[in-house]
Amino acid sequence: MSSRAYIENLADYIGREVTIAGWLYNKRSSGKIRFLIVRDGTGLLQGVIVKQNVTEEVFSTFDALTQESSLRLRGTIRKDDRAPGGYEMDVNHVEIISIAKEYPITPKEHGVEFLMDRRHLWLRSQRQHAILRIRHEIIRSIREFFDGRGFLLMDAPIFTPAACEGTSTLFETEYFDLGKAYLTQSGQLYGEAGAMAFGKVYVFGPTFRAEKSKTRRHLTEFWMVEPEVAFNDLNDDMDLAEEFLEHIVGSVLKNRMTELKTLERNTKFLENVKRPLPRITYDEAVAILHKKGAAFEWGNDFGGADETVISEEFDRPVMVHRYPAKVKAFYMKRDPKNEELALAVDVLAPEGYGEIIGGSQREDDYDMILKRLHEHNLPESAFEWYLDLRRFGSVPHSGFGLGVERTVSWICGLDHVRETIPFPRMIYRLTP
Ligand code: 4AD
Ligand code: MG
Repeated sequence: MSSRAYIENLADYIGREVTIAGWLYNKRSSGKIRFLIVRDGTGLLQGVIVKQNVTEEVFSTFDALTQESSLRLRGTIRKDDRAPGGYEMDVNHVEIISIAKEYPITPKEHGVEFLMDRRHLWLRSQRQHAILRIRHEIIRSIREFFDGRGFLLMDAPIFTPAACEGTSTLFETEYFDLGKAYLTQSGQLYGEAGAMAFGKVYVFGPTFRAEKSKTRRHLTEFWMVEPEVAFNDLNDDMDLAEEFLEHIVGSVLKNRMTELKTLERNTKFLENVKRPLPRITYDEAVAILHKKGAAFEWGNDFGGADETVISEEFDRPVMVHRYPAKVKAFYMKRDPKNEELALAVDVLAPEGYGEIIGGSQREDDYDMILKRLHEHNLPESAFEWYLDLRRFGSVPHSGFGLGVERTVSWICGLDHVRETIPFPRMIYRLTP
């Protein structure tokens, strides 16, 4: 009996007979030798079938096998640096499990929409493997960062009674006898309750925005991680954000270099992601835009193009703080030195990837937060519980949200967020 092995572990099986279960990636023949390139989800292996070493039946299975047919290969493992994956198998047996119909995704070029329609199959390709493995590493390192620093994981609800990040991007649904429910735009408000209960927490889950814009940065469903810390001010928040980014990027560089190479990612900017990250005010960012000839009016929010121009001044992510309050969310505390400004921070990634983190110090005064709710036309009744956080032992506190997909897009050097999540949801896409 030969034992079942996975391709990524073949170093442990040199000289031994093993069985690999997988799918046919490619095949070719030359004279009396047949090559089967097989993928098992963990890597590629080249199986070599020599006519005189196998039965006629096994030798002829080669002809029947189509791309993506499932099979088991049995044979002895050899190291071979020229083979895809670095190992070869001298095959002595091939078992066909299922012959695949004509597979739509061939090694030739396909358009993005064609591939997106077949996303469930496209996931089998090497490029998608590299991206989704990096996504996994980013998520793993996010959890490692907070778990290793005493943060409690707080799961926030997905059905919520009101808006958190502005009413223009709310997904709405009927909720039994209770009226309307909204898909969460952010778990932050619940994270604040968590911070008052546990000191420091992180919320990590899917969030929803009815984004009507078709850009390379927007999904309607995306994952966000949101730490929230009691007694932290805006500076503490920026300290946390820069240590966090250094940790994530460092983990990908350490553990996923092979995948970055597959994506032909130039890692120069990633290697620069070390503390301290530059910190500039909104006013300083506007001055950069003006210096470079952009027609930008003070008081507006930055668009994607503005963010690119600003970030081009820096060789690593830049933190822009103290935005005009009127372009930011209701819960942000005002700068005591200038009431027009919010104690907000956005982290802009280099190379034109734009905002990956949005955060702030929160308004902790009861009368002020009530005033802000009214100014933003938010229903006080839905926020009664939130007001309690300012009634019972209110403290300064701050936090931020990092968008997983924008971070994956930046670290992988992609030109659109649609490849950063297994099944993307966008204004014009709900399938597969
Ligand atoms: O800046 P945002 O809207 O901040 C919040 O939601 C806060 N409540 C976070 C907090 O302080 N706890 O969103 C945070 C991040 C953005 O910087 C971006 O990376 C990502 O979420 N994001 C999106 N990613 C993909 N598609 C979209 N439509 C996104 N909208 C925001
Ligand atoms: Mg934002």
